[in-house]
Amino acid sequence: MESLPPNAAADADFYLPAARFFPAHAAVALTYDDVTLATLYSDVLPRDAQLDARLAEGLELRIPVVSADMDTVTESRMAIAMALNGGLGLIHYNMTERDQLSEVSRVKNHVHGLIQEPIKVQADQLIGDVLALIEKKKFSFSTFPVVDGANRLLGLLPGHVVRARYARRKVSEALTPRTEVRTVHERELASDPIGRADRFFTENPGIHKLLVVDEEDRLRGLFTMSDVERITQERGARVKPARDSQFRLLCGAAVATPRREDGSLDRDRIVAHIGALMERGVDTVAVSTAHGHSKGVGDSVRLIRDAFPRLPIIAGNVTSGAGVEYLADCGANVIKVGQGPGSICTTRIVAGVGIPQLTALYLASRTAQARGVTVLADGGISKSGDMVKALTLANGVVCGGLFAGCPEAPGQIIEINGKLYKQYRGMGSMAAMKAGSAARYGHTSTDTNRKVAAEGIEALKEASPPVDQVLNGLIGGLQSGLGYLGAPNLPQLRERARYIRVTAAGMREASPHDVIEVKTTTTANS
Ligand code: XMP
Repeated sequence: MESLPPNAAADADFYLPAARFFPAHAAVALTYDDVTLATLYSDVLPRDAQLDARLAEGLELRIPVVSADMDTVTESRMAIAMALNGGLGLIHYNMTERDQLSEVSRVKNHVHGLIQEPIKVQADQLIGDVLALIEKKKFSFSTFPVVDGANRLLGLLPGHVVRARYARRKVSEALTPRTEVRTVHERELASDPIGRADRFFTENPGIHKLLVVDEEDRLRGLFTMSDVERITQERGARVKPARDSQFRLLCGAAVATPRREDGSLDRDRIVAHIGALMERGVDTVAVSTAHGHSKGVGDSVRLIRDAFPRLPIIAGNVTSGAGVEYLADCGANVIKVGQGPGSICTTRIVAGVGIPQLTALYLASRTAQARGVTVLADGGISKSGDMVKALTLANGVVCGGLFAGCPEAPGQIIEINGKLYKQYRGMGSMAAMKAGSAARYGHTSTDTNRKVAAEGIEALKEASPPVDQVLNGLIGGLQSGLGYLGAPNLPQLRERARYIRVTAAGMREASPHDVIEVKTTTTANS
């Protein structure tokens, strides 16, 4: 009689690693719900699973999650919330270049410890002028360094004298003079400015502002105790923000690559805008299009790489190894994978093209690994289980719909029959293309006046809790996935994943069934 293999050996015939599973399904395209992952022996507690994701040099995230560069998803509020939670927001480009610069500045200037350009006042100003400034700019603080014309420190105007009753007095009469103001030299900040400031506040009870000066006694920056406390608490917290080397939040921006009348890329304008974004501190730019494996996109990426050799470039979208190879050759560091999986996308219906995500990710990730670039799974993620599956192949995920209902997403809440919603639209929807994103779909904005096929819809998302809470649920699910696979981190998840195909019956079994549902709880907070 034929001898059966022992059970453990049989596992290996059913639960296959990516390199065997996907080629065994070579003629079908699979997506998240088509497969499930097998559990493996684990000594990893979910809460200990590490989610750091290195997308490129200088683009290191604490969680592998990026909010989509869509005009109903990511502006500065969303990008700040994403980075505070360890992820990354890509500011969309359906706005003027100037507005996009301001959006990036808002993210990069969000509390990062040392305020490099503190608001100052002059000695000959009246306290009434200072009060008017506070009122006009809606400042929530009233203590100001006082400097001369060469930015040399003359003293500190304390908040308790900035009152209407002293409005007619000069700042010079009310300031605490330089000799009584405690400062540190910028040299003393060394590699741990926050640690130095933290020590100062402990050693000097009652002082809540620390001024930084240079050898000429010029004002170089300011720390406030509340910022420093927030950052030191953050260091011990579970959620770690994604920051750059200067301790500022990470921020990305999608860029349009405008053309001149003769059809050639407008190099001067593209370089000027990206140069200005970099001056504001942008950490990456994204060339997001529906068809990344195309000459136009390749030329744009080449131009940017040529002008900015060290800037991390995200480019896409593609669904093949050849597409990854092409964009990597053009100079992209991070390749977005996804054509038509998005919750508001109609590319597959309109154009009949596009590949279900897991198969596309498998092919893309093989080439990416060989070419030393990374891959983002873009679109189609509707639950944390999809994220786990995507991250068995990709280095990060891009989500639109999951965040579009959050208060941090642009747009107003709409009430319909007592329920609250927010608008969510595809960047290939007619309305978004008219607002500027037509080039992403290979049209010009004037084309939208004639007949072009929209590749996205305008929709509503139910209003959801803030990004913190939505991410908390998603990250909890992701860490559970790593725990089940015995993976202490994301590289190990990619290494250990074993797949098996599920049927429609298997899918039914996977969702709640044969019960009357009274409450759907998908996150620990809901
Ligand atoms: P989710 O599923 O997260 O998808 O809502 C967000 C991603 O969808 C892509 N996107 C589009 N794709 N037509 C498309 O075919 C569109 O109008 C459109 N708008 C966005 C994009 O990759 C985004 O990150």
